Amino acid sequence: MGNSYSTHTGSGWWGKLPLVMCFRRRPQIVEVKLLKNLPFKLKFYITIIDIIGLLILFKSIDVFKIPNLGDFLFFLILAVLAESFKVDLPYGGGVTVGFAVVFASILLFGASAGAWIAAVGILLKDLHNFSSTPLYKRLFNAGMFAIMAGASGSVYKLLGGMPGHIELGQNLLPIAASILVYAFINITLLTVVMSIASGNRPVSIWVSNLKWATPHYLALGPLGILLGLSYTNFGYQGVVLLLIPILAARHSFKLYMEMRKVYLETIQALASAIEAKDPYTKGHSERVAQYAVKISREMGLPEDRVEIIQYAALLHDIGKIGISDRILNKPGSLSDIEFETIKSHPAIGSQIIRGVRFLEKASELVKHHHEKRNGTGYPDGLKQDQIPLGAEILSVADIFDALTSDRPYRKAWSIKEAVNQLKKEAKAQLNPNVVNALIRVLEKEGVV
Ligand SMILES: [Fe+2]
Repeated sequence: MGNSYSTHTGSGWWGKLPLVMCFRRRPQIVEVKLLKNLPFKLKFYITIIDIIGLLILFKSIDVFKIPNLGDFLFFLILAVLAESFKVDLPYGGGVTVGFAVVFASILLFGASAGAWIAAVGILLKDLHNFSSTPLYKRLFNAGMFAIMAGASGSVYKLLGGMPGHIELGQNLLPIAASILVYAFINITLLTVVMSIASGNRPVSIWVSNLKWATPHYLALGPLGILLGLSYTNFGYQGVVLLLIPILAARHSFKLYMEMRKVYLETIQALASAIEAKDPYTKGHSERVAQYAVKISREMGLPEDRVEIIQYAALLHDIGKIGISDRILNKPGSLSDIEFETIKSHPAIGSQIIRGVRFLEKASELVKHHHEKRNGTGYPDGLKQDQIPLGAEILSVADIFDALTSDRPYRKAWSIKEAVNQLKKEAKAQLNPNVVNALIRVLEKEGVV
């Protein structure tokens, strides 16, 4: 998921708009650079958020007249830096500690300053690479952040919180409420934009946003309080001292995320090495992985499961490495013994990757990617719900890509023909929910 609508984690809607440029077999995703090229509904929504955000900022303009303007500007710059120091997540977006800075600003200076600091922080992030995010996305994020911080700061004050006086004992309720309001508005506004852009159901997007956002805000809220307290007690030096362990933690997290990226790249390299010999299967695993990920997300599976399914999809035929090329590439029909040998590839593949700790769960899916719901599949002849859902997703993605690709013995089928075939097979062999999810994905991409 490329980049740019934002939360402080950046894990919100960073997705590119699925504009299908030309679809023969695979959709090409491009990012829309200009607001005027967006669909009307999305344009309307973004404009409304921008206007509300602007009104809040306009109403808060007095903040530039406050006596401690220097302190305010210090936090404003800190917010820009915090939003710019992002750690990329493997599936797009990234994590920043921007919320801690904004929340500290709300506690120290109130709603108006918080709104300005939040909005400017996200608007001016990555100044060195300003064009990397389209301007309308920056403005949308700024509008949304002004709303979030303005509302959160108002709730804090309404419930008795005094900006500038952080008393944990007395202010627990206003502090908790303002964090919740901030998170709730963020999740909700993002859900709407993601739902309009992707066409997916808002409820499932809201739930998945809630899942990543809750731990994020709960973790960074206390950091914001600490930042505020350090500032009140020790001034600028207090903030700088606190930033040292945060930067160290960021570094470790960054290394961890890079390691996960390396995992994926290693698996991709392995998959393409297996396929390099055969021009007909070249790119097959990568495409199966793309379809499998889309189907899984369409079915609302959590990201950690999607990741396992992606790994399994890339490696689903790795067991073919243990089967002789003479059988694999045989042009005519196979003898019973040869077919039995081919049928051993899921078990061999699962055995190969089982020893790798982060692929343990994927190995189960690899093992069962040729099972059929009526029990006629292999290796174990599993039936119905005995087959892991991830394996059924692999199976549908695998068959769909095989049908829509050229083979030595036939030309590629059209998408329509392939979908009709899957519908037929869904009656006895494939999971109909998975087939329907694939059809919905293809419909959204405008190819059926
Ligand atoms: Fe296979």
